[in-house]
Amino acid sequence: MDFKACIFDLDGVIVDTAKYHYLSWKRLADEIGLDFNHSINEQLKGVSRMKSLDTILAQGKLHFNEGKKFSLATRKNDWFIEYLNNMSSNEILPGILQFLDYLDGEGIKKAIGSASKNARLALEKIDLIDRFDVIVDGNMVDKAKPDPEVFLLAAQKMYVEPRKCIVFEDAVAGIKAAHNGSMLCVGIGNPEVLSEADFVIRTFEGLDLKNLLSNKQD
Ligand code: G6P
Ligand code: MG
Repeated sequence: MDFKACIFDLDGVIVDTAKYHYLSWKRLADEIGLDFNHSINEQLKGVSRMKSLDTILAQGKLHFNEGKKFSLATRKNDWFIEYLNNMSSNEILPGILQFLDYLDGEGIKKAIGSASKNARLALEKIDLIDRFDVIVDGNMVDKAKPDPEVFLLAAQKMYVEPRKCIVFEDAVAGIKAAHNGSMLCVGIGNPEVLSEADFVIRTFEGLDLKNLLSNKQD
């Protein structure tokens, strides 16, 4: 196989923390009397905390100053961290552990490329912090997905050329980021939502990477 490394998004790919982001944003929206539903939530996947807040406020045509926005984002993050602190390795998504073992056996490097500033905490809670060669999180990059910075930095830290990396993503912004970095992208989730990905799988369970890649027409 011509690939040397896999880069994983975290939320919604390794672990279903996407539901905790949703519940925390919903709680904040309820508190300030704004509508919040799964369709607005879809737009927040892969997007930074402050940009997510801006999206939610824009739905309600609300304008707050930077100080107020910071305190709202902090409230949301405190609730999110409460959820993270209650997490355990039971919440690792199906097929992930087997797939990481498979990559180890093949000598393929593994990285996390996440927009979250809480990525390390989440990985510690689910006992996967030591399973990756490189972890790049929201504290290490300036530009949010769809900018490729987070994935390019992960590739650079692994000493692997971007075109030898495969990205696994559940967010449209993340798929665009992978392509903007000249990387192949496997979408995890609904093929209709993730139609821009090179391949889409519903789950890592039973994934045969060699077989999947062999279906790619160059
Ligand atoms: C990930 C999630 C987003 C989240 C972002 C920032 O990309 O998909 O929903 O807003 O990280 O997370 P943070 O933990 O830093 O608020
Ligand atoms: Mg994600």
